[in-house]
Amino acid sequence: MRGLLIAGNWKMNGLIGESVQLIKEIQPANNEKIEIVLAPPFTALHAVNAYLSKDDSGQINNFFLAAQDVFWEEKGAYTGEVSPEMLANTGCYYVIIGHSERRQFFHETNKTVNKKIKASLKANLQCIVCIGETLEQRENGNTFSIIESQIKEGFANISSEELDKCIIAYEPVWAIGTGKTATPEQAEEIHQFIRKKIEEIFNKFSSEKMKILYGGSVNPGNVEGLLSKEDIDGALVGGASLKAESFNKIIQAGENTINN
Ligand code: PGA
Repeated sequence: MRGLLIAGNWKMNGLIGESVQLIKEIQPANNEKIEIVLAPPFTALHAVNAYLSKDDSGQINNFFLAAQDVFWEEKGAYTGEVSPEMLANTGCYYVIIGHSERRQFFHETNKTVNKKIKASLKANLQCIVCIGETLEQRENGNTFSIIESQIKEGFANISSEELDKCIIAYEPVWAIGTGKTATPEQAEEIHQFIRKKIEEIFNKFSSEKMKILYGGSVNPGNVEGLLSKEDIDGALVGGASLKAESFNKIIQAGENTINN
């Protein structure tokens, strides 16, 4: 059993006070097989971490902090960038890498994704690596080849031990923020393909162990259908993670899935 991971990607939303308020309203899952990952903007990481660290164990239940991006160099003259070590130092356990908005608006490529993964692993961060096809690529029948090259190039020269610290988030670009979700069957087809590729490139053990999340207009109404699929091990949630009410329902759906 791989367990489930429900992640909220807050994107560029939330001043410090709003972020702390939101985290206060999110209900921890009553099941240790569910991890809840929260990715506030950089500016709120410290404050959210301070709230999470109030607990003696250093974590409130199963909440983990994530950054939405990272730079690959350790330090130096890179105005505006944030290093993996800085993120770890701020309390991040996870980092999201290669989100389609980074690829689309900031020209990130599979090569830069690869550099970011390697640098983040060095700093002991766990990577949530986003891949997914655009509408045009899907309509032209290129979904599988795009996914394959994103995996091959993104994870180039990464060992299977390192891969074990990575999670893949399949996020079809046409489903992000559009209200159009992939059907559970469409998503499962790609998740199976991803797992098969991981097995071919790495090994069966790593492929079976790896969590593969789905992202793209996940909401309380569609999440249970998605999570019920064998190869969907969680969700990366954007819009619906900005309100505690809807995010809590998604966490609850995760609990229902684990309990069934
Ligand atoms: P969405 O975003 O849930 O708002 O579609 C998902 C994501 O971009 O990770």
